[in-house]
Amino acid sequence: MLNRLETARKLLDSRDQGHLLQEFESLDSQAAEQLLDQVESLHWDVIDQARDVISGVGEAAVDPDCLAPVEAHVPDTDSAGSLRSAGEEAIAAGQVAALTVAGGQGTRLGWNGPKGTYPATPVSGKPLFACFAEQLRAVRHRYGAGVPWYIITSPENDSSTRNFLLDNKCFGLDRDSIMLVQQGTMPSFDAETGHILLSGPGRIATSPDGHGGSLDALHRSGALSDMESRGTTIISYSQVDNPLAKIIDPVFIGLHVDEAHSSGEASSKMVLKTDPAERVGVFGLLEGRTCVIEYSDLPGTMASAVDADGRLRFHAANIAMHLFSLSFIQSIVGEGGKGLPWHRAVKEVPSWNPETRKLQKPSGPNAVKLERFIFDVLGCAKRSAILATERAEEFAPIKNAQGPDSQTTSFQIQSDLFAHWLEERGVVIPWTSEGHVDAAIEIAPGTAMSSGEIPSELLPSSIEPGSSMLL
Ligand code: UD1
Repeated sequence: MLNRLETARKLLDSRDQGHLLQEFESLDSQAAEQLLDQVESLHWDVIDQARDVISGVGEAAVDPDCLAPVEAHVPDTDSAGSLRSAGEEAIAAGQVAALTVAGGQGTRLGWNGPKGTYPATPVSGKPLFACFAEQLRAVRHRYGAGVPWYIITSPENDSSTRNFLLDNKCFGLDRDSIMLVQQGTMPSFDAETGHILLSGPGRIATSPDGHGGSLDALHRSGALSDMESRGTTIISYSQVDNPLAKIIDPVFIGLHVDEAHSSGEASSKMVLKTDPAERVGVFGLLEGRTCVIEYSDLPGTMASAVDADGRLRFHAANIAMHLFSLSFIQSIVGEGGKGLPWHRAVKEVPSWNPETRKLQKPSGPNAVKLERFIFDVLGCAKRSAILATERAEEFAPIKNAQGPDSQTTSFQIQSDLFAHWLEERGVVIPWTSEGHVDAAIEIAPGTAMSSGEIPSELLPSSIEPGSSMLL
């Protein structure tokens, strides 16, 4: 222990982080061991390289002259048909795996548990994980091929996610088709001094390393090799927070594998951004390569700029649905891969003060967290395709406890979508003057994944105002 302590002291002193050991002598032997374990497991090479990011030195604003808008692919009925066939072929051949990032801390949602366990559908209140599991079951039933499902968790929610899935019998999926992969963490830094924060006596404050960290986690855990052994060539990526996410979409996969549109490395979906203030990243082109500029990084003048048609110039909103080829991801994270850049997020993090021996609650953002973003891989692709999709059909995120992107707004979007499906099949719908359905409607993926698939015998002639309907 003494040797370890000496080595840790040298390492920390040389980086002006000696305060981490300030209370070492007063810790019991178990806590002391744990602190040394934590110090030794930090990625010091990464922290050293990210020094400027941590201090915010050289943070450059987006240059309006360098960023161009993207043109997304809008398939017509014919081309959608041939894209769908190509995508279905890949799915049926077992080439596609699903990847759901579910490692975030869900602070905004105020939910005491993994985000994937949050009730997300308007009638049955099905949890987010169940929405995706049902889609995967429906896909397996339809194409006769299973889709392995990789779920990214964080150290904080890994065991509760595992228990939740097991308690629910994996929602009918084979247990060995679901792989939980724990993403890494990074320490939180004092925004003024750059000192690593403590969360308690002898405990370093850490947080998940961003959804971009999922790639390293897939590599480290052997999940990329596992994909290879299962015959996966395409990874279908989505976020856990959107119950309408089509986690396996044949049309999208068809576009991704179509050489006319894409180099087959990385593809994305977009919807039209509703207004300049909407909190979504936007796609753009930097030196001819696709990128996503986060809402917090897009200058106001660029966010509100309009083109000749009166449309927002940067109108292509990122809904966090991407397809990656396995070999492309391997080239980024494997041996010789250069990995993804780090981003600086300034957040509120309570910190332990070794002087006063108290946990201080900050009165504002006090800490720098380091995160990697998955969409930074897009710039590494030679030609990256973007598919334009309908917001009303694919985007009903649940991020906040109240207000925009909450359970309430998501339920309404889902009910409205299913009401349109029923209306297309001749059902009389009670619409409000604002254009929303005055009923809670839910159609499970196992019942239908489009209007035309709803079995006729299930169709009512009309929906009563204020009623609930589950198909
Ligand atoms: C994200 C996108 C934004 C996009 C929007 C669409 C980023 C930085 N921004 O915004 O461009 O328009 O979604 O809904 O992603 N997660 C992890 N591990 C982490 C961090 C996050 O698994 O370490 C997961 C979360 O569980 C969540 C998702 O990633 O499902 C999104 O992360 P979040 O940081 O909440 O991004 P948004 O603000 O929602």
